[in-house]
Amino acid sequence: MGWKTLDDMDLNGKRVLVRVDINVPVADGKVTDDTRIQRITPTVRDILAAGGRPILLAHFGRPGGERKAELSLQQLVPALEAAFDCPVMFAADCVGAGAAAAAEALKEGEVLLLENTRFHAAETKNDADLAAGMAALGDIYCNDAFSAAHRAHASTEALARLLPACAGRLMQAELQALEAALAKPERPVTAVVGGAKVSTKLDLLSNLIEKVDHLVIGGGMANTFLLAQGHAIGSSLAEASLTDTASEILTKAKAAGCEIILPSDLVVARKFEANAPHEVLPADACPDDAMILDAGPASVTRIAEVFANSKTLIWNGPLGAFEMEPFDAATNAAALKAAELTRAGTLISVAGGGDTVAALNASGAAADFSYISTAGGAFLEWMEGKTLPGVAALEQ
Ligand code: 3PG
Repeated sequence: MGWKTLDDMDLNGKRVLVRVDINVPVADGKVTDDTRIQRITPTVRDILAAGGRPILLAHFGRPGGERKAELSLQQLVPALEAAFDCPVMFAADCVGAGAAAAAEALKEGEVLLLENTRFHAAETKNDADLAAGMAALGDIYCNDAFSAAHRAHASTEALARLLPACAGRLMQAELQALEAALAKPERPVTAVVGGAKVSTKLDLLSNLIEKVDHLVIGGGMANTFLLAQGHAIGSSLAEASLTDTASEILTKAKAAGCEIILPSDLVVARKFEANAPHEVLPADACPDDAMILDAGPASVTRIAEVFANSKTLIWNGPLGAFEMEPFDAATNAAALKAAELTRAGTLISVAGGGDTVAALNASGAAADFSYISTAGGAFLEWMEGKTLPGVAALEQ
């Protein structure tokens, strides 16, 4: 932990530029999932309680350097006021005279939200002048946007170098949870990696086989591994060009002492749709005209055993086509097992990634996990062993 926290800063009377990630889903002008807003609330409240004046910097969507009304952060003001329980002022730019006047006028007990940083093309270029314009608005920089820390942008990277900098409460919690799960975990450690494609998770698999004791591979990715082992997979989603890579991963895992757990039985169907007629078959028996949509019950039993013998679990990606019943069964059952072991105090369970969190929420297991990350891409890059620029900048 080479970074400071809010507790190390004298916040009284200071303007604190807080980089948050409030890139939340919105439909018809209403926030449909306010998790990210709830999770930054402790930081905002702690700054207010210490007599500081929080000035929020954030991106929203990918406007590509243009002002787009539908990506204005102004629409989030009511949701922020409800969460923080205080007035939230808004400035129509994140730099310049208007923003400076709003920062100057900010009163104790109020929060200021600045407009979408990505309305400036310079933001995603990590531009020093834009960062200097932001730095001029505050005395202290606090980064609470772990989920944007994989981006070297002006508000996440360059700005951290211009003011006394610290991590916010959410950033702190995310980094501590990930450290406990992968950097200095209690062993044995199991990772679950699922999702559609091996190609998007090659770096992840390569890093994990060096770090974990058991690696459960599920979802469409597992099909590529089954193909590499010479099994027929019918019309299942797979990347045939990556079977050599999959074989190499299996060989390297063995050498590194990491047990890879692939499905031993499968749920197959003839149609990719909810409630399609389906059957359970051994992993080497997928018919030519069928597709694999989930891991079968014997696979789930094996996964549950592995979880029960583990002290730490890190999870990214569903085990099957979790968005369609009944092909969410393996994901749900494994998630509920992890939740049960976590409740019993024998497992530390950490999960992240958009699909993963949706799947764990749907299974009802999420609330019992030790930690659910707010991050998608940043969680993945951290698990891949990459340095996150937004975190590195706090460590200098
Ligand atoms: C996210 O939603 O994962 C973060 O806000 C990062 O967004 P980005 O992928 O557009 O940088």
